[in-house]
Amino acid sequence: MNIKTITALIVVAAVMTRCATQPKQETIVMKKDPHSYSRPNEAKVTHLSWKASVDFDSKKISGTAKWKIEQQGNPGVIVFDSKGLSIAKVTLDNDEATYFKIGQKNEILGEELIVSIKPETKAVSIEYVTDPSAEALQWLSAQQTAGKKFPFLFTQSQAILARSWVPSQDSPGIHFTYDAEVSVPKDLLALMSASNPQQKNETGTYKFEMKQPISSYLLALAVGDVSFKPISNRSGVYAEPSLVDTAAWEFADLEKMIAGAEELYGPYAWERYDVIVLPPSFPFGGMENPRLTFATPTILSGDRSLTSLIAHELAHSWSGNLVTNSTWNDFWLNEGFTVYFETRIMEKLYGKDYAEMLASLNLQDLKDEIESLNAANLSADTKLLLNLEGRSPDDGVTDIAYNKGYYFLRSIEEAHGRDKFDAFLKSYFTENAFKSMDTEGFKNYITSYYQTNFNIGLKDSTFNKWIVTEGLPADHPQPSSTRFKKVDEVLASWKAEKPLDATQSKDWSTHEWLHFLKNLPETLTQEQMKAVDSFGNFSNSGNSEIITAWGVISIRNNYAKMNPKIESFLINTGRRKFLSPLYNEMLKTEDGRRRAKAIYDKARPNYHFVATNTFDKLIK
Ligand code: BES
Ligand code: ZN
Repeated sequence: MNIKTITALIVVAAVMTRCATQPKQETIVMKKDPHSYSRPNEAKVTHLSWKASVDFDSKKISGTAKWKIEQQGNPGVIVFDSKGLSIAKVTLDNDEATYFKIGQKNEILGEELIVSIKPETKAVSIEYVTDPSAEALQWLSAQQTAGKKFPFLFTQSQAILARSWVPSQDSPGIHFTYDAEVSVPKDLLALMSASNPQQKNETGTYKFEMKQPISSYLLALAVGDVSFKPISNRSGVYAEPSLVDTAAWEFADLEKMIAGAEELYGPYAWERYDVIVLPPSFPFGGMENPRLTFATPTILSGDRSLTSLIAHELAHSWSGNLVTNSTWNDFWLNEGFTVYFETRIMEKLYGKDYAEMLASLNLQDLKDEIESLNAANLSADTKLLLNLEGRSPDDGVTDIAYNKGYYFLRSIEEAHGRDKFDAFLKSYFTENAFKSMDTEGFKNYITSYYQTNFNIGLKDSTFNKWIVTEGLPADHPQPSSTRFKKVDEVLASWKAEKPLDATQSKDWSTHEWLHFLKNLPETLTQEQMKAVDSFGNFSNSGNSEIITAWGVISIRNNYAKMNPKIESFLINTGRRKFLSPLYNEMLKTEDGRRRAKAIYDKARPNYHFVATNTFDKLIK
C-alpha cells in the first residue's frame, strides 16, 4: 500500500470539535473510487427522476435523468460518468440550460461528463439518447425469446455499465433514491429494480419508485412479454408466459428463504422480493437488483436443485444492497458475505449436510481458481483486497471474492463460535444499512464489536493472512459432507477397478453428481467415458451445471457423443460461468481452438456484452 492509498483510506473522517459549545462538524470524506470519474466529495447525487422511452427498432432509449444533488464547498461543477451516451442538453433547477463538456475518456471507464453548476443548484437534468451498442443493454429479437413473438430488453449494470444507459455517478460508494416513468411498446411490460406493476396496462407507460437508497450498479430495467405469478404475499415470479408456472414451481420455497434470512440477520428492508426469469442470453446466474432479482433460465432444472442461486441473490438484499462495497476493490465484501449468508439460508432450510455439500463444491472451485490465477501470473488477484486501478472491475469477478471470502468469514465463525458471529453480522447489517463499507471499515467494525461485546481481541495477523496475503491459508476451515464421503467411496472403488453400478447412486442429487464429475481422473479412455456416462446418464442431462461439468470432461477426453449437445448449449446459453469452462477447455488444443472459433461465430450474436467482452479476447 502506498502513502496515497493509506491517506485515502480515511472513510469516516475528521470530527472536529473546536470548542465545547460549538456543534460537532462531521465531514464524510469518501475514498476515491478508481472506476468512477465522479467527485462526490464536491457534489453528489441524492435522487434520480428518470423519464425514458424504449425503442426496439432503433435499439435506443431516449431519456431525461433529473438528479437532485448536494454540494460541499463551492465546486462550480458536478461530474458524472457516461459511456457512449449522446447528450442533447443539460439544464439546472428551473429548466435553465447550462454548460457541459466531456473531459477524460477511456476504454474501460467511458467518459467524464462535467456540468457547470451554481452554488444554489439543487437539480441537474440531463437529456440524452443511448447508443445501440450500449454495454449494459441487451436487445433480443423475438427469435431469441421463449415465446418467439415479441422482442425483449434487459439491462446488466454491475459493475460499471449503468453509465451506458443512465448518466450517473457510477460508483458503489454513492447512494440515491429514484423514481421513473418508462414508455414501452404496448404489448410489453416494463419492470425495474423498484416497485413494480404485475400486469400490462393499455398505455405502455409504467411508473416506478425506489424509496430506499441504492447504488447505480443496482439500476435495472427489463422489458418484454412477461407475466407474473405470486408465491407469497410479498414474493412472486415474472417470466415469459410459457415459463411462469415452471418458474413458480422451481421457486416454491421463496417465502421460506425470505423468512429464514430475516430470522438470521434482521428484517428484509425492501418490502417485496420478486424474481424475473430472463431469456437464456442473460450473462449471469443471477443479479441482485433490489426488489427484483434477475435470473437465468438455466436454474430451472426441474428438480429445485439449483435454488441456492436464489438464496444467494436474496442474501444480497443485506450484503451488497444494504451494506455496499465502497469500491470494486472491496468486492469480496459483497460476494464473500453473500456466499456465507446463502450457505446459512440453505442450511436453515435443508440442513447441515446440504450446506456442507455446497461449501465443499465451493472449496474445490476456489482451489482450482487459485491454481489458474497463479498459472496466469495473476497471483496478486488471489488476495481478498484487490487493486483494480487501471483494470476492468470484471477482473475481480473470481472465486476469490466469493469463496475465499466465504472461508474467511467461516474461519472467524469457527474460531469464536456461531452465536457471536451471528450477533456481529446482525449488528453489521443494521448499523451500516444503506451505506458503503470498505475492507478497512469492516476490519474496524468487527474488531471493535468483538472487543466491546465479547472482550475478544481479533488479531491483525488473522486479517492480514486472509485479506492481503495471496492464496488460501493452510488452516482454512474444512467442510465435511457425509453425502460426499459416499461419493468418494464410489470413486475410490471405481479407481480400484470395481465396476460402477446404479444402486450406488440411487439417491444422489445434482450436488453429488457434480462432486463425482469434478473428482474423476483427468484423463479417461473412451471405454471409461462410456462407463461413466451410462452410470450417470450425463449426456442426456438437462441440468446446466451437469452439462457444463460433463461437457468439459467430454472435450478433454474427445468424447464425440457430446459434441452436438455442447454446441447447442453454447449457442443457446449466454451465462458466462458455463461458457468459460467449455470454451477454455477447447482452447487447450489446436483442433479445439478451431472448433471453439466456429461455435463462437454462431453463438456470439446471442451473447451480452459482458460475455463477448470476455471471449473476444480469448477466441481469435
Ligand atoms: N452480483 C453478482 C453478479 C455480478 C458480479 C455481476 C459482478 C456483475 C459483476 C451475483 O450476485 C452473482 O454472484 N451471481 C452468480 C451466482 C451465484 C450463486 C454465485 C452467478 O451469476 O453465477
Ligand atoms: Zn453475488
